[in-house]
Amino acid sequence: MEKWDCIVIGAGAAGMFAAIEAGRRGRRVLVLDHARAPGEKIRISGGGRCNFTNIFCEPERFISANPRFATSALKRFTASDFVARVEAEGIAYHEKTLGQLFCDSSARDIIDMLMRDMSDAGVVLRLGQNVSVPVCTERGFLIRVEGQELECETTVVATGGKSIPKMGATGFGYRVAEAHGLKLEPTRPGLVPLTFSGPTLENMKALAGLSTDAVVSSGGASFREGLLFTHRGLSGPSILQVSSYWREGEEVQVEWLEEAAAFEGLRSLRQANGKLSVARALAEFLPKRLADSLLTQMSVTGRIGDMSDRRLAELASMLAHWWVLPAGSEGYRTAEVTVGGVSTAELDSKTMETRSVPGLYFIGEVVDVTGWLGGYNFQWAWSSGWAAGQVC
Ligand code: FDA
Repeated sequence: MEKWDCIVIGAGAAGMFAAIEAGRRGRRVLVLDHARAPGEKIRISGGGRCNFTNIFCEPERFISANPRFATSALKRFTASDFVARVEAEGIAYHEKTLGQLFCDSSARDIIDMLMRDMSDAGVVLRLGQNVSVPVCTERGFLIRVEGQELECETTVVATGGKSIPKMGATGFGYRVAEAHGLKLEPTRPGLVPLTFSGPTLENMKALAGLSTDAVVSSGGASFREGLLFTHRGLSGPSILQVSSYWREGEEVQVEWLEEAAAFEGLRSLRQANGKLSVARALAEFLPKRLADSLLTQMSVTGRIGDMSDRRLAELASMLAHWWVLPAGSEGYRTAEVTVGGVSTAELDSKTMETRSVPGLYFIGEVVDVTGWLGGYNFQWAWSSGWAAGQVC
């Protein structure tokens, strides 16, 4: 039987990072993955340029049943720590917006860096492996792989969430947790476009391709970022962000314009030229097609000069509090992340080791910690992987 100090299941961002750290400590580490290539999600991330971290990486920007759980790992291995590695490697990068750091050239640079670091740390990587759920033994764990039995002292589960099954995402990590009697927080797709039906969808379809800035709120969270109309409903950064907080059956609020500013702006236009149509007036503040569509939906027509202060105030209020009920989301097919997962109550926040099964670790997206859009999820993968790698 083959014996290893540590077996990491999953060669994604978190698994490779933990393996590098453990290998550097002199542990004999084997990484197993059923995919044909490591780091496939890194490769496709950030439009091929990998938004590898965010310089404003605060614990408040992560969703979890225990909002404080991520703090320790994020503080011990920070965004600056990862940036230092990227710089030492000579990978050119830039800040796009809101602290989001992207490779100048290609996400491949990050994968190559991790592969080289694994090789330098003596880590062995085996791809295309059919891995069984690890079973506890007296000396650690037994894992069956392609008919062969492997033994290890510690096992790190880094198999990610359920998003994008086409790319090899499975519920494997959750099965491992369940097999060992660990609690799971219910999972749902996050960072995902929202879908609509009926007349609401027809209105959205007519605007497909149009994007504008808006404040979108749901589940107690609000984001001011771009909003994009699609043939299925709404997408864009503000919608993706809020989707991680949204629950089925709940409405989403869109603030197209800030209420007081909309009222004052429209009133000034009325003063300047009362003959202007309300549609032309609103088009001063919103894309014309959107202004037309919103006014049609609100049954507002005519000239701005005919609008009393009270009607202008009503219009401003409707533009600031536009409620829509999503039919659903595009689901795991396109979701960037899975919200929920292995309960943080089962894990030591400093090491990611399970409290009830010594030697068994969970890191990365499989854990009930989900970051905002903008590099936060990779930072969680690096930080949680690093934390486990110090001890596993
Ligand atoms: P990850 O999913 O990366 O890796 C899991 C690994 O486990 C995979 O290699 C998989 O093959 C393997 N595996 C699964 N089941 C297995 C099994 N049964 N047996 C063996 N191996 C198994 N985040 C961010 O911060 N910035 C960004 O720019 C983006 N962009 C982005 C774009 C798209 C399209 C998606 C889908 C996601 C992103 N993300 C992102 C999110 C980010 O990709 C994600 O949070 C991390 O990849 C999670 O890293 P993990 O290592 O935890 O899982």
